[in-house]
Order: sequence, then structure tokens, then C-alpha cells
Amino acid sequence: MTYGFDTRAIHAGQPPEAQTGAVVPPIFQTSTYAQDAVGSPRSGYEYSRSANPTRDALQDCLAALEGGARALAFASGMAAEDTLLRTVCGPGDHVVIPDDAYGGTYRLVARVAQRWGLEWSAVPVGDPAAVAAAVRPRTRVIWVETPTNPLLGIADIAALATLAHEHSALLVVDSTFASPYLQQPLALGADVVVHSTTKYLGGHSDVVGGALVTADPDLAERLEFHQNAMGGVSGPFDAWLTLRGIKTLGVRMDRHCDNAERVVDFLLEHPAVAGVLYPGLPDHPGHKVAAAQMRRFGGMVSFHAAGGEPAAVEICNRAGLFVLAESLGGVESLIEHPGRMTHASAAGSPLEVPGDLVRLSVGIETADDLIEDLDRALR
Ligand SMILES: Cc1ncc(COP(=O)(O)O)c(C=O)c1O
Repeated sequence: MTYGFDTRAIHAGQPPEAQTGAVVPPIFQTSTYAQDAVGSPRSGYEYSRSANPTRDALQDCLAALEGGARALAFASGMAAEDTLLRTVCGPGDHVVIPDDAYGGTYRLVARVAQRWGLEWSAVPVGDPAAVAAAVRPRTRVIWVETPTNPLLGIADIAALATLAHEHSALLVVDSTFASPYLQQPLALGADVVVHSTTKYLGGHSDVVGGALVTADPDLAERLEFHQNAMGGVSGPFDAWLTLRGIKTLGVRMDRHCDNAERVVDFLLEHPAVAGVLYPGLPDHPGHKVAAAQMRRFGGMVSFHAAGGEPAAVEICNRAGLFVLAESLGGVESLIEHPGRMTHASAAGSPLEVPGDLVRLSVGIETADDLIEDLDRALR
């Protein structure tokens, strides 16, 4: 029997602890483990970079939530991304990335991996024909985010999986904005799911982490080899915090979606707003695909300020309950100016973000309070 999503979020990988019956997995804050004889580790664990029981609990839970064979937990989303790229690509290989990718992903590909011989093209991944046109004989990865950060673009996961596989490439889906509750890319044909668990999975803005999930046991083995060899692992306390956050993922995501819908309705009517980006809107170019591949449309909302960049900056500065800060996906609402904050690393590149854009991570507070705060900031 397969349990429902919320049951898996609470129980997968977390049976009561064998020795004491503790219902919460202990934080195994240890670097090493006793061996009964040379080469005979007592519990199977040897050293916590290679494996740690608290990290294993998180990894098993993540695999269960995404329907994967294996999940691996990292010190950050970027450590997960770096490990993945160096596992599946070598010098002279090529990756396709979104032309509105998260700025850190762009920076990793264009300013780090490129120095080691990785070639890349940035294309609008919402347009499968544009992705197909960018594929080269040495394309190893088609990398998409959906929804994208910060423009909330949507990529058709099933269509791009077919395209990738026709060219013997992998489809990698950064599903950070959706979380496993709203979207399950492996079931749609993706090869690897990437998460910044810092965001909705952790959910409380108190831990940085990342994850890779795959349904392919061979690829999982190669990723696990690189996770240990490269060492960017999640520490036990970080893994424990992330697991604790995951238990309430489903109820939090539904409230994030409810509140985002209220905020979108408010922004649509406001004269200081020139346009609202939200995949739940029927006129959003990715709406149909999003409706087919997502449970709901998420808690992230971006909008263009009618007064251009100065107005966008001023709105961010004036917000109060919406805290002016980078990151997203926590219980508290955040506001930011992507062009000058999260996506500053893409300035001057083809991935530069419009200056009039404001990004909201709509939290789970009382919706009326959020709207009142935005009304004040927009005035
Ligand atoms: C979509 C997306 N992917 C990856 C990352 C990187 O994750 P981390 O900050 O945990 O390294 C972020 C961070 O904001 C993100 O928004």
C-alpha cells in the first residue's frame, strides 16, 4: 500500500527509533562510528561525510515524497547543483538552461563550470521548440526550473523529458518553487529533481540545504559517489530541521496557495501595478501546462511596478509585514527586488531581470494583514 503525501511526509524514513522508541529521529551529531574489528563497522556507518542516520532519514523521506528511488541531501541547493553537473557532465559537454534561471544557477554554469569546459545555452524553456533548437550533439542536460525564479515561467516537463530522451540527454527539473507537494517531475519523465530545501521543504527560514532525487538507481549510485567524493553534505542538525519542516509541507503549501491567490486578486486591481505574474492566472502563457502538471499554483507572486524601477525599489523599502529579504518559501512573507538582490549576479547578462519587477514570497499569515501591508507599500 502506498500512503498519501502527508502520511509519507510525517513517517517516511522516520520509524520510531530502535533503542528508545523516540518518535522523532535523533540528531546523530557524530562524525564517526565505532568499529568492532578492522573493517567491521558496528552499524554499517563509518564516517558522517559518507553517511549519517539523520541525513538518511531525510533522504528516505525526500525519495518517498518525489516518488524516487534515491534522494541525496546537501549543504545547500547550490552544492546539490554543482554535484549533479560534475557527475553527469565533463569538459566539452553542453547544457541548456532557462533564460530566466535562478541567478545562482546561472552563475554556477556561466562563471564556474564554464571555466572547466562546460558549454551552455540559455533559452526560454517555456517554448519546447526553442529548447529543441538549442540541443547539440554533446548536450547532456536540459535544465529547467518550473515555475521559474523570479518570472514564474512554466516549462512542460513531460514534453521536455521526451525531447531530452530523444537526444540521450537528461531532463533536470529544479522544482524548488513547487515543492514535492505541488509537482512531481519524476512521474512526468524527468531524470533528476533538484530542490533548494532552504525554501518550502524546510519552510521556516532557519536552515540552508539542497537535494537531488532520481528514479534511476545507476544514476543515484554515481551521484552518491560524487556526494561523498565532493563532500557538500547536509549536516545532521540541518537534516533534522529540514525533516521537521517537511512534516507540515502539505498544510503549509495549501495555505501559501490560498494567500497567494488573495494577493494576486488584490494586485490585479491596483493602479500602481502594471502586471502580475502568477501561473494560476488564465492569461499566463504557461497556465494550461501548469494546471496539468501542478496540484495548485504556489505561493510565489511577481509583479511589475507601474512606476518602473524606482517605484519597485520604493515598494520593497516601504513594506513592513512583508520582510525585505532574499530567499522564499518560509512561513513568513518576504518581498524583494530581484534585479538588485537575488538576481544581481545576472546583471548585464542575457538573464538580466527587469528593473520594475518585485517578487513576493507569500507566507501563511492572516491574508487580510498581508493585503493591508501591500496596500500601504503601494500607496
Ligand atoms: C530556484 C532555486 N534553485 C536553487 C537555489 C539555490 O539554493 P540554495 O540557496 O539553497 O543554495 C535557489 C535559491 O534561492 C533557488 O531559488
